[in-house]
Amino acid sequence: MKKTILSLVALMGMATVSAETIEVNVKKVGAPVQSTMYGMFFEDINFGADGGLYGELVKNRSFEFPQSLMGWQAFGKVTVKDDGPFPRCPHYVSLSDPGHKERRTGLTNEGFFGIGVTKGSEYRFSVWARSKEGTAKIRVQLINPSSMGERQDLASQDMEITSGDWKKYELTLKAPVTEQKAQLRIFLVGKHGVDLEHISLFPKETFKGRENGLRKDLAQALADAHPGIFRFPGGCIVEGVDLETRYQWKNTIGPVENRPLNQNRWEYTFEHRYFPDYYQSYGLGFFEYFQLCEDIGADALPVINVGMACQFQNWNNEAAHVPVDQLQPYIQDALDLIEFANGDENSEWGKKRAEMGHKAPFGLKYLAVGNEQWDDMYYKRLKPFVEAIRKAYPQIKIVGTSGPDSEGEMFDKGWVAMKELKADLVDEHFYRNEEWFLSHGLRYESYDRKGPKVFAGEYACHGKGKKWNHFEASLLEAALMTDFERNADVVYMTAYAPLFAHIDGWQWRPDLIWFDNTRVFKSCSYYVQQMYMMNKGTNVLPCLMDKKPVAGETGLYASAVIDKDKKEYIVKVVNVNADAREVNLNLKGLKKGQALSVETLTLHSADLDAENTLDNPEKITPQKGTIAISDGTISDKIPAKTFRMYKVKY
Ligand code: AHR
Repeated sequence: MKKTILSLVALMGMATVSAETIEVNVKKVGAPVQSTMYGMFFEDINFGADGGLYGELVKNRSFEFPQSLMGWQAFGKVTVKDDGPFPRCPHYVSLSDPGHKERRTGLTNEGFFGIGVTKGSEYRFSVWARSKEGTAKIRVQLINPSSMGERQDLASQDMEITSGDWKKYELTLKAPVTEQKAQLRIFLVGKHGVDLEHISLFPKETFKGRENGLRKDLAQALADAHPGIFRFPGGCIVEGVDLETRYQWKNTIGPVENRPLNQNRWEYTFEHRYFPDYYQSYGLGFFEYFQLCEDIGADALPVINVGMACQFQNWNNEAAHVPVDQLQPYIQDALDLIEFANGDENSEWGKKRAEMGHKAPFGLKYLAVGNEQWDDMYYKRLKPFVEAIRKAYPQIKIVGTSGPDSEGEMFDKGWVAMKELKADLVDEHFYRNEEWFLSHGLRYESYDRKGPKVFAGEYACHGKGKKWNHFEASLLEAALMTDFERNADVVYMTAYAPLFAHIDGWQWRPDLIWFDNTRVFKSCSYYVQQMYMMNKGTNVLPCLMDKKPVAGETGLYASAVIDKDKKEYIVKVVNVNADAREVNLNLKGLKKGQALSVETLTLHSADLDAENTLDNPEKITPQKGTIAISDGTISDKIPAKTFRMYKVKY
C-alpha cells in the first residue's frame, strides 16, 4: 500500500513524491533463523594463512620449499642437509666456521613481504639445533635492512647451543620500533658450527596467547563479526590442481615441525598475480581451525576432498580423478576427520586430538564433501561418501555442491543430484556483477521447501570493471541478503568470500578483511556481514510492500526478524536508488506504547567507489542513530544508496 503525501514540489504542481509503506507483521512469527545463517569462509588464498592469520613470521622455516633456501639469504659456509630429526620435514641447515676471522656464517629470512614488528612487542624466537663440535653460539637479530639510522639491528640476543643432540632453544626479542619490513638474521659467533632446523618467530601476544597461535588483530576481526559457521580450508585448495597437491587434513595435525609442506595452488593460478614463494606450511591446520571455531563461537564446516582434482584445471578429464572403486582411502579420511573432531580420547583419532591439548570433543555437526564440483563425475563419487558417513555418523549433516554456476543447466542438474543423494545442504557459489545482484532479490522465494537446505557458501558482488571492496558492492550484497533472511526456512547458511587478503600478496578480490604486516582494515562488505551476523534474530517476520516481498521493485529491499531473546524487532532496508526515499515502516500488531525505543544503524557512502583502506580504515562504518516510532509506525527518509537497520525494543 502506498500512502501519497504532497511535497512542496507537488504543491507547486510539478511532481508527486510518495512515501512507501513497508508492513512488518510482528504477530506472525515465522521460520526460525538458524544459528549458522551468516558465516565466513576461510581459504589460504591471498596469503590468508601463512603470512596472514597464522602467526608465524618466518617463511620457509623448515627449508622444505623446493628451493631449500627460498626466503633466506645465506652467507659464509651454509650447507643444506636432509637427514634432520623430523621425517616429514627432513631438511635443515648446517652453519660452519667460514675460516676467515672477519667473515661470518649465517642467514637472513625475509619473512612474508617483510617481518612486521610493533614497538614494545615481544617475539618468541625458537629453533631446533645441535652442535657436534661443543657449545656453539649464534646471534639472533631483528634487523631493518633499509635503515637510514645509525644501527641496522633493532634487537639482538645471543643463544648458546649446548647439546650435540637435537633440542629446541628459545629466546625473546623485543621490538624497539614498529617496522613493516624487518628481517630475521642469525649468524655464528665463534668457531663451533651448528645445525639449525625449524627456525621460527612468533609474536608472544597471539590470539588467546597460544604458542602456535594466530595473529591477534586478524583473529579478533573474525571474533568481532560473530560468524555462526566457519567453512575451511577451501575452496579450490581442497582439490589442489592435481590429486597430489590436494589438501590432506591428516598432514596438518600433530607437532608443527613434522607437518609436511604442500604447494599452494594460488601460487600460479593467475599469471597476472604470480607468487612463486607461496606454499602451505599447515601450521594453521585442522586442530587450530577447530579451536578457532570454538573460540569465536562458530560451528565448524570442514570441506574434504571427494577424490577429485580441480575440475577447472582438469576439464572433462576423468583420468585426473580417483576411480570410483578406489575411493576408500578418501572416504576413510572423511570418517577419520569426524572422529578427530568428535571421537572420545580413546578412539584412534580422538586420541590425537586429546594429545594436542583438547580432550573434549569439538562437537562437529557438518561436513562438506567436495568444493565446486559438478556433473556426473562428482555425483557418482559423492554417493559412496554419503553412504559411509550416514552409516557411521547419521547425525552429521552433509553438504554437497551445485558447482560454480549460480544458475543454468549444470546448476539445475546439481540440485537434482543433491536431492537424489539426500544431501542435507547444497553449497551454491555466486561471484556476480551489479545487475545480477540487483535482479536476484527474489532468488530463494521459489526454492523447494522439501529438499535440501541452501548454503550460499561463496559469494560477493564482483562489480563490472570494479573488482575491489568499494561501497557499491557491499550495498548490493546487503540488498541480496534481505532475500537470504526472508527465506531463512530454506537458506540455512551463507558465507561471503574470500575472507583475508595481504595487501602485498593478493590473488583475488574483493575480500572481507585486508591487512599488511602490522595493520588491518575491515572492508565495507565486512560491516554489512557484521550487521547481519549480530542482528540475525531468532525468527523471520513477514515484511511486505503492496503484499509482496520488498525485493527491488522500487529500488528498496527489506527483511525483518524478531529476536525473542533480546526482545527486539529488527528491520533491514536497503535503498539502492539514486535518491532518498520516504518510507513508513508499519509494525503491524505492535501494541500501543509497546515499543520503547528505536535504534538505527546506517551504512552509507555518497561516493559509491569509496572504500576503507589501511590509512583510512574507518571511512565507511555503520553509524548509530535513533528514530521516533508513533502508533507502530516509523517514518523515515532513507538517503540514496543506504543500508539502514532498525532495532525496535519491545
Ligand atoms: O574464493 C576463491 C575461489 O573461488 C575458491 O577457491 C573457489 O571455490 C571459488 O571458485
